[in-house]
Amino acid sequence: MDIKSKIEELRKKINSHNYRYYVENTPAISDYDFDALLRELQNMEESYPQFDDVNSPTKRVGSDKSNGFESVKHRYPMLSLSNTYSQDELSDFCRKIEEELEREVQYVCELKFDGTAICIIYENGKLLKAVTRGDGSSGDDVTENVRTINSVPLELIGSGYPNYFEVRGEILMPYSSFDRLNAERELNDEQPFANPRNAAAGTLKLQNSSIVAKRSLDCFIYNILGEELPYRNHYENTLQLKEWGFKVSEQMKLCSSVSEVWSYVESIDKMRVELPYATDGVVIKVNKYDIQKQLGSTAKAPKWSVAYKFKAEQALTKLLSVDFQVGRTGAITPVANLEPVQLAGTTVKRASLHNSDQITLLDIRVGDMVYVEKGGEIIPKITEVELSMRSAGSHTFEYITNCPECNTPLVKFEGEAKSYCPNQGGCAPQILGRIEHFVARKGMNIDGLGGETIVLLHNNGLVNNIADLYSLHHDQLVSLPRLGAKSADNIVKGIENSLNIPFARVLFALGIRFVGETTAKYIASHFKNLEAIMAASTEQLIEADEVGSKIAESIQEYFRDENNLEIIRRLSAANLQMSAESIELVSENLTGKNFVISGSFIQHSRDELKALIEQHGGKILSAVSSNTNFLIAGNKIGPAKLTKATKLNINIISETEFINMIASTDNVKLNTITSENDNNVTQGSLF
Ligand code: IVH
Repeated sequence: MDIKSKIEELRKKINSHNYRYYVENTPAISDYDFDALLRELQNMEESYPQFDDVNSPTKRVGSDKSNGFESVKHRYPMLSLSNTYSQDELSDFCRKIEEELEREVQYVCELKFDGTAICIIYENGKLLKAVTRGDGSSGDDVTENVRTINSVPLELIGSGYPNYFEVRGEILMPYSSFDRLNAERELNDEQPFANPRNAAAGTLKLQNSSIVAKRSLDCFIYNILGEELPYRNHYENTLQLKEWGFKVSEQMKLCSSVSEVWSYVESIDKMRVELPYATDGVVIKVNKYDIQKQLGSTAKAPKWSVAYKFKAEQALTKLLSVDFQVGRTGAITPVANLEPVQLAGTTVKRASLHNSDQITLLDIRVGDMVYVEKGGEIIPKITEVELSMRSAGSHTFEYITNCPECNTPLVKFEGEAKSYCPNQGGCAPQILGRIEHFVARKGMNIDGLGGETIVLLHNNGLVNNIADLYSLHHDQLVSLPRLGAKSADNIVKGIENSLNIPFARVLFALGIRFVGETTAKYIASHFKNLEAIMAASTEQLIEADEVGSKIAESIQEYFRDENNLEIIRRLSAANLQMSAESIELVSENLTGKNFVISGSFIQHSRDELKALIEQHGGKILSAVSSNTNFLIAGNKIGPAKLTKATKLNINIISETEFINMIASTDNVKLNTITSENDNNVTQGSLF
C-alpha cells in the first residue's frame, strides 16, 4: 500500500474509534491501543508533510497559534426560538398550527440543550468551517477550536451525504468538566464561571485551541440545512446525521398529538436531572419540511417551532444579613445569610452574592424577601427581590468600604468587580489563608497542620508567615494548649519532610496570584530556579508555556514586595528546594549536541522537548549560530531561523526525527521537575 493510502486508512480507523468512544459510548479498543494508532499517524504525517490535512484526527490537540476570529456571514440565518413556560401556550402553539393546516401534524420533540449554538459546515464529507451564532446573520469563525471537540466529526463516515451542507447544534460543557475547571480557576484566583453555559461559550472564544482541547467540550447536533438533503423531514434527517458520525440526542421523539408532546415534556423534566450536562427545556418542531415552509418564520424565530422552558426551581425567603469573607488574596466576597428554606431537595441558608455590583443591580436590602435559585444546580444565588413585600423602612444596602477583619480601606483593581483588602501582612484571614495554602497537600504537604492548628500557632504569636514555620521548635509546640507531644512530633516531621518537596510545588505553595499548580510546573521547568524567575522580564516570563501577561505581571508584583523577598530569603536559608533537581540523565545519546527549537509542535510542548534534550545529554541554545548542531523545526517556524540554519548548513529536523534520535533509549522521561504523582504534563493524548 502506498504511503498516502496508508495515512488515509489510519485516519479512517482512528475516526471510527473516536466515533465509537465519544458518540456511541462503545469503545472497541483500549486507550493504550488508540494512543498507539494516533502516534503512528502523527509520525507518518510528520515524515510525509505533503499529505498533511487540517481534518486529520491528530489535529484535535489544537494549536498554540492565536486565532483572532474572522467574521463569517451565515448562508442561512441562525434564528432563535420563541419560548414559553406554560402548558396552555404550548397547547395553543399546536392547536393553531393544526387549525391553519386543517390536518393533524407530527412533531419532533427534543431536549433543549443549555450551551452555546454553533453552525458547522461540511464540504465533500469534511469539516470546512465552524461559526458561532453571532448576531444571527454573521458570527465568528471558531473552526480551530471546534476541531478539538471529540464528538464533532472531522470527516464523515458512511455515504450519501450532500457535497455541501450545514449542521446546527449546541456546544456544551458537561458538569464534570465544569466542576473541574472551576475548582482549578478558584485555586488560581480566577473568577469561576457562573454556569456550564458561560463556561462553554467562554471556552469556544479562547484564542488558544490547545486549551480548548483540554476542557472536554461536547456537541449535540439538532438541525441540518442544505439544498440536497436526503429526506424531506427533520426526524429522518436527524437519524441520518447520526449515521454520518454526528452526536444527536438519544431523547428525540416523534409525537402525533399535543397530549403526547406533553407526556414527553413531563418525562424529560423528571429524567433531565440525571443527565451529565445542562438542559433547560424541550424544543418542539414540526417534522415535515413542506409544512415548516408553509408556516414560515418571523425575523427572529421560526413559526414551526417553540421551546418549552423549565422553570429553575426557586424559593422565596428572607435576607437576614450579609457577611463578608476575606480570601487569601484579600478578595472580599459577600455572602447572604437567609432564613432557612427548602430548595431542590436541600435546605438553603446561605447564598452567594458575588460582588457589590450585583447587590446594587438587584437593589438587595437586608430584610427583603428574595428569590433564591440553584443556577446550574450549584451554589444557590439570589436572583430577584420581591419588591411588593419590601417593608417601608428598608435602607439601600451600603457596601463596606473597610475590611471587615482589619478595618483597612478596601481597594478595587481595574477591570475587576471584587474589592480587595490590601493589608496582606496584617489581615488575619489573609495570613492564615496563605499559610493554609502553603501547607496544603498539593503544596508543601505538611501533615498535622490543619486550619485549627494554624490559628493556634498564629494566636500564640509563633507563626505570622510561611517562613516562620521553619523556625518552630518542638518545645514551643508542646507548650501550646491542646497540642500533645505526638501532634508536635508530627508537625516537626512534616516540616522537615517538606524540605524535599520539588521546586515546582514550592513555587505553587508561595501563593502567587494566578500561579496555579500547572502554571507553576511550566514556570519551574522553563526557568529552573527561583533566581531566574525573579530576574525575568515580562517578555521572558511570557516565554514559559501557559504564562500570559496577567500572570507575568502578578509574578513581578509578588517579587517587588519587600516582605515577600524577606520570606524568600528565609525559606532559602531553611533549605527549601529553590531550583529544579539536577537532571537525571536517561541516556547520553545527545551529549555534545546543541539544539535550537523553533515553531509549535504536535506531540510535545517546547518545554517538554527541552526537557528531553537535557535528559539525553544535549544542550539548548536560544539562537541559531555556528555552534548549533540541530534545528528542531515545528509548525510556523520563524523564517529567519530557517534561512540562517540553511546558510550555516545546520541539520533541520522534525519533531518525529528528533524523537527517533532519542528513541533507542526506551524509557523516555518527561518530568524532570515533578514528583511521581505529579504527572499531568500534556502529552497530546486523546483520553
Ligand atoms: S433549533 C430555527 N433545537 O436554543 C431553530 N435549538 O433559544 C433553531 N437550542 O439558538 C434552533 N437545544 O442554541 C434547536 N434541540 C434544539 C436546541 C436548540 C438548544 C438552543 C439554540 C438556539 C436556542 C434558542
